Amino acid sequence: ATHAAAPVPSTRSLPALRAAAATCEACDLYRNATQTVFGAGPRTATIMMVGEQPGDVEDREGDPFVGPAGRILERAMAEVGLSRPRTYVTNAVKHFKFRREGKRRIHEKPDAGELAACRPWLRAELAAVRPRVLVVLGATAAATMLGRSFRVSQERGRLLEFADYVDGSPLTTEDGPPIEEALLVATVHPSAVLRARDRQAAYADFVADLRTVADLRF
Ligand code: URA
Repeated sequence: ATHAAAPVPSTRSLPALRAAAATCEACDLYRNATQTVFGAGPRTATIMMVGEQPGDVEDREGDPFVGPAGRILERAMAEVGLSRPRTYVTNAVKHFKFRREGKRRIHEKPDAGELAACRPWLRAELAAVRPRVLVVLGATAAATMLGRSFRVSQERGRLLEFADYVDGSPLTTEDGPPIEEALLVATVHPSAVLRARDRQAAYADFVADLRTVADLRF
């Protein structure tokens, strides 16, 4: 199928961006998803966290990270003293991608075309919020923001600079990148903690990565 580009208005108003995203048909995922799940949080947030895509619960409720992965994220944030209401939380892709197995809806990974179609929304969110720190939750968010060569397993928990990735970043357009100066911490996706063989150790590692962010104390 051919698609119109994401209908991103040129504004820094998050409510206006959210309203426009509700009717996005830039890829096919809108067909089966319940609704667009846009980012949530204040424009004044100093921290922006980026996940992969809404899950089953998020698709029904309309907000990011309100299901099982969200509970892990929220618990880990609380543990290191990061305020969820003061954080802007969003996803690389704004519609739930799934296949049906009987009554169940099974998560499927977004492909490169879906990531590219949705990237203008992420770019607009970055330009609106202008966070001082980006928290990249997992390989999909890393790929869409930093490029395919970024390795979360090697870089996780390190304090990096987004500027170091600007040149090769898929987020860059003819207008340039949506932000230049932000710190960056990558970690695993919270749902990887849920799937880990040693869940306690995986959770502890995830918390340790978030502590790098909390220790910045803006
Ligand atoms: N996983 C994500 O990446 N994002 C959500 O919002 C929920 C689960």
